[in-house]
Amino acid sequence: MPRALFRIRRMRKAEQEAFFSLAAELFPRSSLHVREGDEVFLACMAHSPQPVAFLHLRALRRSLYLQGIGVRPERRQMGIGRRLLALALRRVAARSPTGGLGLRVKASNAPALRLYLSQGFMLSRTRGDVWSLRWAPAN
Ligand SMILES: CC(C)(COP(=O)(O)OP(=O)(O)OC[C@H]1O[C@@H](n2cnc3c(N)ncnc32)[C@H](O)[C@@H]1OP(=O)(O)O)[C@@H](O)C(=O)NCCC(=O)NCCS
Repeated sequence: MPRALFRIRRMRKAEQEAFFSLAAELFPRSSLHVREGDEVFLACMAHSPQPVAFLHLRALRRSLYLQGIGVRPERRQMGIGRRLLALALRRVAARSPTGGLGLRVKASNAPALRLYLSQGFMLSRTRGDVWSLRWAPAN
């Protein structure tokens, strides 16, 4: 797949509607809330301001939590998800929570699992078909 031209930046207030509609499209069964202190990043293709992907991070007491990551189907497998996840890991480094970065993923979600495992996430718990993964920075 050729490298796609996209950029990632922090969501602006005026982009919240576009973010909610993208998130609802990608996760129709989840209800999404952005809390005070959450960080949301959007990826847009070079030629359009409409977001094609997002990353939503939440600070918990000791760790960051990956609340959501998603790429529009027609923009997948172009490296956008990997870049968003790399940004999430940089946010861990910047905020240095002792618990690193946690997330939950369905065991059947092969693309997401493969991405997380390739970045060094480890399985921390399973509950039915939902797996909790954690990434901790090397000391
Ligand atoms: C998971 C997701 C974010 C990956 O985004 P993406 O932009 O397609 O990922 P990338 O192109 O950066 O690929 C990165 C890695 O992900 C994995 N991957 C991506 N698509 C894959 C697929 N269809 N099958 C298997 N592995 C896949 C691979 O490890 C890939 O690395 P490689 O190309 O070196 O093999 C995307 O598939 C998505 O939005 N899925 C729906 C929403 C979702 O499930 N989010 C996660 C919830 S926990």
